[in-house]
Amino acid sequence: MFENLSKAPGDKILALMGEYAADARPTKIDLGVGVYKDEKGVTPVMTSVRKAEERMLSNEKTKTYLGIAGNKGFGTAVLDLVLADAVDLLRVRIAQAPGGTGSLWVLMQLINRARPGATVHVSDPTWANHIPIANSSGLKVATYPYFDTVTRGVKFDEMLAALDKLGADDIVLLHGCCHNPTGANLTDAQWDQVAASLARTGALPFIDLAYLGFGDGIEADAYGTRKILSTVPEAVIAFSGSKNFGLYRERVGAAILVARNAEEADVTNSQLLNIIRGAYSQPPDHGAEIIRTILQDAELRAEWEEELGVMRNRMISLREKLASAIRERSNSTDFDFVAGHRGMFSLLGLTADAVEHLKAGNGVYMTSDSRINVAGIPEEHVGALADAFLGAIR
Ligand SMILES: Cc1ncc(COP(=O)(O)O)c(C=O)c1O
Repeated sequence: MFENLSKAPGDKILALMGEYAADARPTKIDLGVGVYKDEKGVTPVMTSVRKAEERMLSNEKTKTYLGIAGNKGFGTAVLDLVLADAVDLLRVRIAQAPGGTGSLWVLMQLINRARPGATVHVSDPTWANHIPIANSSGLKVATYPYFDTVTRGVKFDEMLAALDKLGADDIVLLHGCCHNPTGANLTDAQWDQVAASLARTGALPFIDLAYLGFGDGIEADAYGTRKILSTVPEAVIAFSGSKNFGLYRERVGAAILVARNAEEADVTNSQLLNIIRGAYSQPPDHGAEIIRTILQDAELRAEWEEELGVMRNRMISLREKLASAIRERSNSTDFDFVAGHRGMFSLLGLTADAVEHLKAGNGVYMTSDSRINVAGIPEEHVGALADAFLGAIR
């Protein structure tokens, strides 16, 4: 049976983690793996999450099945968190899914049922997993211009011109906030223009919302998503609770669909549930119940928002420290873009040689496209890191 298989390519991030673990240098720095880390280099369990789990342990009465759409209270709470009052909920359906990845997968499957073989347009570059998920769902992938390697900002005019050329059979994958891998994001005024373009062309927005609250705050980060939903008739959103609730391994996310009216929402939702039933039947509950418990309790919610704010502000402050250390040493503003980026990542725009040099020469690890996880910047060694970056680009 299996003799016909050839080896699938290994995961590059996992390989990088292995190399980092094997590096004996005490000064090594891990800017590769995409998880938040605190000042001790630990990915912590949030206190609000711990408290929710304690309540769950004493209150839980059964572990019977929840149903294909998962935890209903979680669904209601996530819709409120993500959409607020941007859209009439009669047109909206939500299914809890295993992480942002599971949500992306079921929604891509749904789109392929609606428009078999349609093209999903992704930003250039995009999160590496978007492309295989789309392809394995039967969809084609094309790119639209996004990252300007000179300014390290968004090539907005080119992006908009490309979106304006799309049609009603196309799907546009947008990062709702905190673009991965670049860290370069749209302004509110640019979101307004993207929403207007989508309304003109009829292309379907597919929003990947994996970092809500990691950029400038929950409300600010939700701006683009809400703007689009209040402008266009149809959309899908893949929400992840991995980063903002620190629930990575619990696999909690949600597939949200917005249809033109309640009847179409019901029919489309029946297809979504049918896909889920045939894939994993039902999502795991633990992470979803944690999020429901937090969001529906005023005290826990306030505590979570505060903890999320601490993570967000730490990342912003590390961005500023790195940019200013490089400015002081080089007398140039060439790396100031790091301070202007938002979310967990920045794409530095270094050559593959420079990335290799940083790893071999300085023990500084990042993905081969030169994406850094700013949460991995060691505050006490920011000067050494700045020196290493400057050495690598000279
Ligand atoms: C852009 C983007 N989308 C989705 C995800 C999926 O996250 P998860 O499946 O862990 O919830 C990630 C995780 O790294 C991501 O960066």
